[in-house]
Amino acid sequence: MLIENRKIAPPDSDKRWKIVDATMRKQGYSPTALIEALHTVQESFGHVSGEALEFVSESLNVPPSKVYGVATFYNLFNMVPLGDHVFSLCTGTACYVKGSGEVLEFMKTEYGLEPGQTTQDGSLTFIGARCVGACGLAPVMILDGEVVGKLTPDQMKERIREWMSHDE
Ligand code: FES
Repeated sequence: MLIENRKIAPPDSDKRWKIVDATMRKQGYSPTALIEALHTVQESFGHVSGEALEFVSESLNVPPSKVYGVATFYNLFNMVPLGDHVFSLCTGTACYVKGSGEVLEFMKTEYGLEPGQTTQDGSLTFIGARCVGACGLAPVMILDGEVVGKLTPDQMKERIREWMSHDE
């Protein structure tokens, strides 16, 4: 069933809003798209800002208080800006069994970072994402927006080390 087009103007001209809009449009701007929309916001922007909450709220016709409640309740969304670089590791089941569990451990021992933490100098935030919707590429990690998949845990670690060493 085609639902009336509820396209709301995004907060600004940043192209990432289009990605967020596409996620909601795919689900006919149904309120049930809320969590996926918030995930997309977080994946695209690194955190869920007030203006993002407003945009999602208006687009899905869900009260702002509910959007805020969901965003904070799940503990999966960052409400504050992240570090200069963002490393997201998918810890959904498909990725976990294929090695992201090992990489989680690696991040802790090698860099002292648990999911959701940012280095003291603010240069890097490590995020443990739930299924990012690319299970065919499991295990998936996202390095500053670049999706990397289908590597063995050792290859992942090597790639992370390399990526980290190019950080300022
Ligand atoms: S579980 Fe990682 S992409 Fe689905």
